[in-house]
Amino acid sequence: MHKMKPDIEALSSSILAYAMERLRMDPPTIDHALSQTTLEELAGQTITEEGRSGEEALKLFVDSLGPACISQDHPRYLSFVPSAPSEVSTLFDLVVGASNICASSWLEGAGAIYAENQALRWISDIAGLPAEAGGVFVSGGTAGNLSALVAARHDWREAYPEFSSQRGLIISSRGAHASVAQAAQVMDADLIQSGGHQLTGDDVAATIAELGPADRARLFAVACTAGTTNLGIIDDMQVIGEICAQEKLWFHVDGAYGGAALAAPSTRPLFDGIERADSFIVDPHKWLFAPFDCCALIYADPAKARKAHRQHGDYLEVFYDGTWNPSDYAHHLSRRARGLPFWFSLAVHGTKAYADAVETTLDCAREAAAMIEAHPNLELVTEQRLSICVFRRIGWAPEDYKQWSDALLERGDGLVTPTKHEGETVLRFCIVNPRTNRDDIQLILDTL
Ligand SMILES: Cc1ncc(COP(=O)(O)O)c(C=O)c1O
Repeated sequence: MHKMKPDIEALSSSILAYAMERLRMDPPTIDHALSQTTLEELAGQTITEEGRSGEEALKLFVDSLGPACISQDHPRYLSFVPSAPSEVSTLFDLVVGASNICASSWLEGAGAIYAENQALRWISDIAGLPAEAGGVFVSGGTAGNLSALVAARHDWREAYPEFSSQRGLIISSRGAHASVAQAAQVMDADLIQSGGHQLTGDDVAATIAELGPADRARLFAVACTAGTTNLGIIDDMQVIGEICAQEKLWFHVDGAYGGAALAAPSTRPLFDGIERADSFIVDPHKWLFAPFDCCALIYADPAKARKAHRQHGDYLEVFYDGTWNPSDYAHHLSRRARGLPFWFSLAVHGTKAYADAVETTLDCAREAAAMIEAHPNLELVTEQRLSICVFRRIGWAPEDYKQWSDALLERGDGLVTPTKHEGETVLRFCIVNPRTNRDDIQLILDTL
């Protein structure tokens, strides 16, 4: 270990050749999960006392382990929220690994942090956040929501020290992502899921009005969603932002999936009001063409987050000399410069290409909705929103959906898993890959 020997030089070529081959696949094979037993048969005990050659270990991945993972960037992977990194962002991920940067503090990672901050600035600008806004790239939306809400609670308790040992209270919509409820649970806070799938100003006002004085006093944040995962709904951020300002509540916006549509002129107006957010997240690993794991977490006033998240210790104080330390803005310390693949892609392609690529996916979703409406066996269940279409196959029971979905994947044709809407099993497309086109949608619809 720790020596660049000739066999490692040779292995480098094999690894780079594999990475290039994977990048060139258009489309990649979609692949599918294998059982633990099958993987044991195929790969066996991979770690031994003596080790094995790098070529052998690579072969295990290429032949057995990699094909047991679904290719998120397959153009007919339309389930959950897929990921379609640009080629250059994936390539730069290799550079980030090789550079071994600790991007926690300016002292250690100044160059990387400078670049990450420019990428965060672009996001802040399209959201209309103030000039002093800033934050950090964390692993994903779940981590982003938690860190933002921890900052919110800290801010509340700082203003009201008498609540330092009181459970806080948060309001979100029913459509909010599970990670908001999870954050409340981790924080030992309570969550009221108000209104319907969309949270409106009236819902928030009514919920606040119904609270008794003790509960009102422990309400500290409203968590809006800018693009719900299941339906693509955007909460009424204009009115809710105003209410939060009046009521002195932290206004958090979870745009983990939908926030990318800020970049597209056709959808930007849907986000009006987001500029008032105290904190905002968007995952470039979802719809902004960056590899996993990448969530941009941005605060309107980063000093508030710093107070909540900065870690102290004799050996850490050297960081705190007035420079920008990403470790100050989330629940973490050591961190990979995970925003760099996204930054590199923005730097190479320019922001206009980003706007165009998001528009391409939006156009595809609109076309998919029209094709669903024209299909004799299908009907849209809700209005098509952002890049999501939710629809039913007339006459199908839940088992029919499951069988159809399994067969689609087994044939290697795509991944479209059932979801639920108001208790009914239905289908859902989430399109974030600019390579997904009309023919892909047609191929899937023809089997319905
Ligand atoms: C709106 C929303 N918030 C949060 C998350 C959680 O993000 P992650 O899976 O990156 O933790 C998701 C994931 O789909 C999401 O759609």
